[in-house]
Amino acid sequence: MSAIAIVFDSGTGRTKQVAEQIARGAETLEKVETQLFSVEELLKADEAMDELDRFDTILFGSPTYMGTVTADFKRFMDASSGKWMSQAWKDKLTSGFTNSTGLNGDKANLIATLQIFAGQHSMIWISQGTPIGALSEEGHELNRLSSWSGLMTQSESRAQSPHPADLATAFEFGKRVASLTRRWTGD
Ligand SMILES: Cc1cc2nc3c(=O)[nH]c(=O)nc-3n(C[C@H](O)[C@H](O)[C@H](O)COP(=O)(O)O)c2cc1C
Repeated sequence: MSAIAIVFDSGTGRTKQVAEQIARGAETLEKVETQLFSVEELLKADEAMDELDRFDTILFGSPTYMGTVTADFKRFMDASSGKWMSQAWKDKLTSGFTNSTGLNGDKANLIATLQIFAGQHSMIWISQGTPIGALSEEGHELNRLSSWSGLMTQSESRAQSPHPADLATAFEFGKRVASLTRRWTGD
């Protein structure tokens, strides 16, 4: 069994929907299990962070706030310093995702922050992987926001959910993460 943890923060639920969509995509592959963790629950007790140790892949996601992660997500990053000290997450696979209102919204800065965070933990970064529609023969809408580094999604300020094409991109991303996790574990 290949195990994928999805650690996220979400103030008004849209980033959580992206996390759920990644999990749905990942679980289309056999021998893959996923589990969602909100940073809120992980910050409640030191032992909660230990739950992440058993996973082969740990994904990180946060809404973009002022061009970077939320304060609560940063609290989670800082609280992971014990894991950094022991390099407990070394050689686990990882990647990152963010949802925000702006089409751009400075999401790239957040993804770069997560890449550096992953590097500090000696984790191995998975890129987004789905080509932009303009490059595909079918002209699909996937990866509408043209991010190659990590998964970016967008929601209008009045919309309750991210754009459907972005949720579909998250689903594909989940499949990619699951497939690479299975290759990594040899399962
Ligand atoms: C304090 C704050 C800062 C924000 N900063 C940005 C930003 O820099 N770029 C952007 O595009 N949207 C920004 N937003 C909008 C959020 O990214 C957007 O509402 C997002 O959907 C929130 O995700 P959630 O529903 O998972 O909480 C900001 C919102 C708040 C409350």
